[in-house]
Amino acid sequence: MKATSSNILVTGGAGFIGSNFVLQWLRDAGASVVNLDLLTYAGNAGNLAALEGDSRYRLVRGDICDADLVAGLLRDHRPRAIVHFAAESHVDRSIADPGAFIRTNVQGTFTLLEQAKLFWTALDDADRHAFRFLHVSTDEVYGSLGPGDPAFSESTAYAPNSPYAASKAASDHLVRAYHHTYGLPVITTNCSNNYGPFQFPEKLIPLMILNALEGKPLPVYGNGSNVRDWLHVEDHCAAIRVALARGRVGETYNIGGNSERKNLDVVAAICDLVDELRPDAQLGPRRKLITFVGDRPGHDLRYAINASKIAQELGWKPALQFEDGLRKTVAWYLEHGSWIESVRTGAYRDWIKQNYEERIPR
Ligand code: NAD
Ligand code: TYD
Repeated sequence: MKATSSNILVTGGAGFIGSNFVLQWLRDAGASVVNLDLLTYAGNAGNLAALEGDSRYRLVRGDICDADLVAGLLRDHRPRAIVHFAAESHVDRSIADPGAFIRTNVQGTFTLLEQAKLFWTALDDADRHAFRFLHVSTDEVYGSLGPGDPAFSESTAYAPNSPYAASKAASDHLVRAYHHTYGLPVITTNCSNNYGPFQFPEKLIPLMILNALEGKPLPVYGNGSNVRDWLHVEDHCAAIRVALARGRVGETYNIGGNSERKNLDVVAAICDLVDELRPDAQLGPRRKLITFVGDRPGHDLRYAINASKIAQELGWKPALQFEDGLRKTVAWYLEHGSWIESVRTGAYRDWIKQNYEERIPR
């Protein structure tokens, strides 16, 4: 029985939220991080370029479905916690190609849980008590709200509607079962839509910023009245750290921004910010680029999070107002042209073509 170290193992740390988490963790003098990431289209080692030469950070390129690799990492690094971000995360891609979502989100989470259980079982009492498996999940597992429905709480019944949401729901259930059956010390967080630096530009906010900047059409699905509850990624990462440090084992915590906005209002706000920060007299107001396109099949109408449990139990609440966070985010994308070029590969362009070419303008 060997003791754990002060390391943490992060999965998916080269993606949007994972890279913000690793940067925040090490900036605030956290202990060393091992980052297991497959570097899919969504993962970018360059998100963590600021950590070059930092001996507290190590990237391992590999698959969470690879049991031997995961077992070896746990054996060699003996982390005191696993913070599990790795996933296929884009709803539209899950509609086009669900298989990858079942593999990574369900099989991958199962593989991690199984290896974590074997590692954890062999620890001595004190380390077994202190170990945590923190599973990062989404509010989309709860399905869709009507306009007047109360926000999702931790006791809202699961009703996932997209293959993405269903695969995350399945992973949440596996995490719960590993606690209930084997006693693995897990915590699950279910968060609303994130935005901020390093988000891959296939998701609503970065896609609209870049299209607005470049004078391209802004493809709003349906009539733009779908509502999301937006949270800045720095606030999400802070909530995960609080849950890891003080969350009760076996519990789930909803995390949200208390910032419900209609898609059309978000896109209009982005247009105004880009007009202000990068005026283009020839182009005129970017709002005229808004183009209503064919809707997403099964498009959830509204998400909203009741985050009172994490507020009351753990004292977390968001620090950034949506309008301030959005301004900072637009400015970040305008200032990071080389990052944008590095992620807009041929595969990215193929996806944009596949997703938008077929959507018939209404
Ligand atoms: P992302 O798609 O930007 O990043 C996912 C990362 O996982 C990438 O670095 C990718 O390379 C890696 N990955 C994918 N498959 C892998 C595999 N088989 N093995 C190892 N690594 C693999 O996703 P994100 O937006 O940063 O989301 C991170 C987590 O947070 C996900 O679990 C997602 O469900 C959850 N979440 C996201 C949001 C959001 O708004 N983005 C909101 C709530 C919860
Ligand atoms: P997205 O960023 O894909 O997140 P999620 O589907 O996980 O909520 O989309 C956010 C909202 O924006 C969602 O209601 C779908 C909508 N949307 C568009 O209207 N146009 C787009 O081009 C994209 C990518 C999303």
